Amino acid sequence: MSSTRVALVTGANKGLGLAIVRDLCRRFPGDVVLTARDEARGRAAVQQLQAEGRSPRFHQLDITDLHSIRAVRDFLREEYGGLDVLVNNAGIAFQIGDPTPIAIQAEVTMNTNFLGTRDVCTELLPLIKSRGEVVNMSSGWGFKALESCSPELQQKLRSESITEEELVGLMNKFVEDTKNGVQRNEGWPDDNIYGVVKIGVTALSRIQARKLSEQRGGDKILLNACCPGWVRTDMGGPKAFKSLEEGIETPVYLALLPSDAEGPHGQFVHEKKVAKWQFMPQFYPKF
Ligand SMILES: NC(=O)c1ccc[n+]([C@@H]2O[C@H](COP(=O)([O-])OP(=O)(O)OC[C@H]3O[C@@H](n4cnc5c(N)ncnc54)[C@H](OP(=O)(O)O)[C@@H]3O)[C@@H](O)[C@H]2O)c1
Repeated sequence: MSSTRVALVTGANKGLGLAIVRDLCRRFPGDVVLTARDEARGRAAVQQLQAEGRSPRFHQLDITDLHSIRAVRDFLREEYGGLDVLVNNAGIAFQIGDPTPIAIQAEVTMNTNFLGTRDVCTELLPLIKSRGEVVNMSSGWGFKALESCSPELQQKLRSESITEEELVGLMNKFVEDTKNGVQRNEGWPDDNIYGVVKIGVTALSRIQARKLSEQRGGDKILLNACCPGWVRTDMGGPKAFKSLEEGIETPVYLALLPSDAEGPHGQFVHEKKVAKWQFMPQFYPKF
């Protein structure tokens, strides 16, 4: 087993994930594992970085497939005895105007961005080594969704003591409510599926950080959610405000916090600063 440190990025064959791997290859003192759900796209991305003089490793990882997640877990255990840095970047978003029925959009987005990220955390957080870092890619759009939720839902989602099971129950209920066409009556916004799912990711991060502090406080693992801003990727589109290089600044900052850093931990970080749980219209196009 190698004593080399290791960082792993999900959904890294393109966009922000690929740019994060590129930067970590330069700045992280250890191995960097580029993962992708599609082996061919992942290996092509590795080749692209190799042509630039970087040397990431590759492992297949589909975050909606538990077998795939467990294969990565076993690979990390056997080769490195754990994991130092985890960047949960993989995500999807349906474009505005996509004709896919809303209920399907809600289910698919939830399965990937929230439940997939949670499954990766369930399997890989126990492997995170002392002084490790975990970064969950969320979005400021989550707060737009949160502000549109009923006061009762807001109270639950903002609660400092909500459990992971309660949060998963709420996220599953959102999908069910959408299938039954009652999401508005049940207190959810009906025009911001991506945002509802991302508030789930932010709330989940807060819960996971709390659990780490309670169960492994001495290990000083730092886990945070962040927003990269609006970035020019396939998801963000060509009109987005930020370049890839600008978009990765916050996630890479959180992935490379100094080993003696006491924080941030359990926070939502934007522009490398801890942000309040509120929507910041200045960073988004239509508000
Ligand atoms: N761009 C923005 O403005 C922005 C703003 C806020 C937050 N974010 C978040 O930042 C993250 C990266 O976004 P991006 O803009 O780089 O998007 P992107 O260019 O569309 O890339 C998304 C990546 O996630 C991968 N992915 C999707 N489903 C997956 C799965 N089941 N398992 C593993 N990988 C999967 C994609 O793989 P395939 O190529 O196989 O589809 C792709 O590599 C996302 O979580 C997104 O929500 C982006």
